Amino acid sequence: MFATSLGDGAELRPLEPWRSEEFLAHLDRAREFVDEFIQLARAATDPPSARALLTSYAEKQAADTGRIYGIWVDGTLVGGVLFRVFDTATETCEVGCWLEPAATGRGLVTRAARTLIDWAVEERGMHRVEWRAAATNAASVRVARRLGMTRDGVLRESFPYRGVRHDIEVWSVLASEWRRGRGPGAGHRH
Ligand SMILES: CC(C)(COP(=O)(O)OP(=O)(O)OC[C@H]1O[C@@H](n2cnc3c(N)ncnc32)[C@H](O)[C@@H]1OP(=O)(O)O)[C@@H](O)C(=O)NCCC(=O)NCCS
Repeated sequence: MFATSLGDGAELRPLEPWRSEEFLAHLDRAREFVDEFIQLARAATDPPSARALLTSYAEKQAADTGRIYGIWVDGTLVGGVLFRVFDTATETCEVGCWLEPAATGRGLVTRAARTLIDWAVEERGMHRVEWRAAATNAASVRVARRLGMTRDGVLRESFPYRGVRHDIEVWSVLASEWRRGRGPGAGHRH
């Protein structure tokens, strides 16, 4: 119910607070992998904190300032995509993502992110969709490129994490570019 098919048995669904136990079990499979680059899993380490994280996104959704979605494969939650930022005043938003290791390499996040960007641009009138990734996060940078985004630049040493100040790459796609990329003659998009 309330699911969008991503093909190959994969589905995108809202990741709501009532799913916090399932979310925590998934994060326990993803934690070591995800912790290398992002803080998401560190914010949910036990049932109360997992529920609090999903509740914070439910509140953002109610305020129209953010949203979180899970990716399920054959009924198992394996990752997700989110609007970390959703600002209707400036018509800009930022999409983020994560997967557990077993679900990587199949295009799940690329397909899920496309669904979010389509919705943001076509239904919500977003003008600019951003993607931010540590410069060392090659897999995430490849997703941004695969989505047809442009590298705006680098926020040098802007993200202190685990004792290192990381460079953050900012990528984006504008609504006009997104529509062109999806139109006839845009070619095959992997
Ligand atoms: C970022 C992250 C989600 C990317 O995972 P991913 O599996 O590379 O991304 P996708 O699900 O889009 O899959 C793309 C890969 O599947 C391959 N693939 C196979 N079938 C595909 C299809 N139908 N469509 C697109 N890609 C496909 C692609 O070639 C690509 O592999 P490549 O990068 O080696 O070329 C993952 O590395 C991760 O969770 N990292 C830790 C958390 C994190 O860093 N999050 C992002 C913070 S900015």
